[in-house]
Amino acid sequence: MTLQFDTLFINANLATMNPDIDAPYGAIENGALGVKNGRIAWIGAVRDLPEYRASKTHDCDNAWITPGFVDCHTHLIFEGNRAKEFEARLKGDSYEKIAKAGGGIISTVNATRAMRESGLYHDAVLRLSDMKSQGITTIEIKSGYGLNLETEIKMLNVAKKIGEYENVRVCTTFLGAHALPPEYKDRPDDYIDLVCNDMIPKIAELGLADAVDGFCENIAFSTAQIRRVFKAAQKYGLPVKLHAEQLSHQGGTKLAAEFGALSADHLEYIDEDDVKSMAKAGMVAVLLPGAFYYLKETQKPPIDLFRKHGVPMALATDCNPGSSPITSPLLILNMACTLFGFTPEEALAGMTREGAKSLGLSQKTGTLEINKSADLAIWAIEHPAELSYWVGNVTILNRFYQGKEYE
Ligand code: NIG
Ligand code: FE
Repeated sequence: MTLQFDTLFINANLATMNPDIDAPYGAIENGALGVKNGRIAWIGAVRDLPEYRASKTHDCDNAWITPGFVDCHTHLIFEGNRAKEFEARLKGDSYEKIAKAGGGIISTVNATRAMRESGLYHDAVLRLSDMKSQGITTIEIKSGYGLNLETEIKMLNVAKKIGEYENVRVCTTFLGAHALPPEYKDRPDDYIDLVCNDMIPKIAELGLADAVDGFCENIAFSTAQIRRVFKAAQKYGLPVKLHAEQLSHQGGTKLAAEFGALSADHLEYIDEDDVKSMAKAGMVAVLLPGAFYYLKETQKPPIDLFRKHGVPMALATDCNPGSSPITSPLLILNMACTLFGFTPEEALAGMTREGAKSLGLSQKTGTLEINKSADLAIWAIEHPAELSYWVGNVTILNRFYQGKEYE
């Protein structure tokens, strides 16, 4: 039988990231990959290619193909920037101090509330084009700079539209419990009532969120408050995830595990008991070296414990205007190696396979395997470790989302 492909990539080295292939990076050298109807229809060594017909053939000339990158934790949509806060932090002010004084997240909330949808869309897409030029084909986007129903919906609408028009897969996350809005000063439980009784039901009804997130921290919300948010999410059938143990140990990870969360994120202050609870709940650890770096954190997430207990480690840019103004997934790979001690192979898995897992997308993307979406990045490199090694100087040759090439 002759196989029919829409596109066939030949003479490629494939970093499949498929753990069932017993080679570093799940590599297939001198490989070929056939695409049909936006999916991977055939993958293997060129010498094993069966008889085929292809509408288009790409000779990759020994370039490396990786899965399209999955950025599983971003706050891509926001207005303005916080460069002045960055200056203040360099002079010695802490992230917590700035937040308590009404700066930080709240200053972005004020700017985001004031901006119309088209402006938010425009700015977010500029940042996204940077990310796409470094291989991103899937991105998670959180709300959380609205903190009122109207602006949270506005942000999620923008995120959904990006998924419709920008040739990228978008997962949306409702992050109403990100910070306490000024109009609820000293009344955090009343704000949590609003999140649980008004926002989550409405957002669920509109189908605007794929998951619900929160920020469990002494400058944000307690475990008791997040528990209420998770219960409301559960009632509407929405999976949960959590910003946990970022600046201090609050117990958010165990709470998230109790609710069968997709992931717990940041995790600098997590302990071994927490890690065990994640392993038991089948959660992914989403590590964010960009925020660690910008906040000059010194406590590292315990990656040996994640390895020991078999908790998958995903990586993300955490793109946001405060703690991680970063649009470069490649820089994140480098930081994960240099700051956290990832191997380059773990780093690439973190931005592909494990990122997909943390979004519940393992069946769709994250590895190069038959039947998965043809989400690919093609790199002018001689070895996949170069993706973690260089800062700059890596050329992407082409990228495909669902088999479709983009700019
Ligand atoms: O993931 N930790 C809380 N949220 C963001 C920071 C948001 C901001 O500073 O604007 C984070 O680091
Ligand atoms: Fe975040």
